[in-house]
Amino acid sequence: MTEKQRHDAWDAGQSYETYMGRWSARIAETFLDWLAPPKGADWIDVGCGTGALSRTILARTNPASVVGIEPSPGFVAHARALTPDDRARFCEGGAEALPLPDASCDVAASALVLNFVPDRVKALGEMRRVLRPGRLLGFYVWDYPGGGMGFIDAFWKAAAALDPAAAELDEAVRFPFCTRDGIAALCREAGIKAEVTALEVETVFDSFEDFFSPFTLGAGPAPGYLASLPLDGQAALRQALAAQLDRGGAVRLTARAWAARARM
Ligand SMILES: C[S@@+](CC[C@H](N)C(=O)[O-])C[C@H]1O[C@@H](n2cnc3c(N)ncnc32)[C@H](O)[C@@H]1O
Repeated sequence: MTEKQRHDAWDAGQSYETYMGRWSARIAETFLDWLAPPKGADWIDVGCGTGALSRTILARTNPASVVGIEPSPGFVAHARALTPDDRARFCEGGAEALPLPDASCDVAASALVLNFVPDRVKALGEMRRVLRPGRLLGFYVWDYPGGGMGFIDAFWKAAAALDPAAAELDEAVRFPFCTRDGIAALCREAGIKAEVTALEVETVFDSFEDFFSPFTLGAGPAPGYLASLPLDGQAALRQALAAQLDRGGAVRLTARAWAARARM
């Protein structure tokens, strides 16, 4: 594990839900509207985390089955607890070696994951392998380089202004391929003829506290970085963000993702 990956801190399911899951559930709906999948399909959700996309698939597409694959045991346990549905099962595993047979799914999807996978081309090859011929592959990642993931972008900009070492932990720097052109190039490299689009949701925090407190829960790269700071460093970062965003009411930001879909 590299120093940068050490901050990724995927472990505590409830903390992830508060930090990201509430927003990833929203963008999952937008993604499924765009993907336009068939009803009654067998799905794989690669890097399912606490199950935000899996539950949205269950709620909106009437699938035959959904298999969520996720390396974090804590997230798998959380996904199981939050998803009491006989059509769903969650297994530990990684995107580069999916624990499913060839040609066993109708839709292979992955939400906000591929940037964390070391060999993305291999991961896409695995998603192709488990698909039946002619079926649907889709994935999306946050638009980190374009500043499109507003609350994460605000965090890292403030962090880097106080601590130059934070600059290289910024997901915008770590994941430069998360652009329209980068996604298209990745798909070409993986031999996938994909259509790429931007998806957006509004992230509305009730207050500055509602914006900041999830960063203190330790789940994800930015919270992992905050937890690594001494207390006075944490307080300084909070103050810098408050100076920028705290107007005494709701904090409204935008979350934009780049999504790809292809019929294989
Ligand atoms: C931002 S979360 C997204 C989780 C979920 N898909 C969602 O939409 O809420 C990123 C997820 O990628 C998972 N992940 C990291 N490396 C992975 C890998 N090599 N293969 C599969 N998943 C991975 C993490 O454990 C984490 O659950």
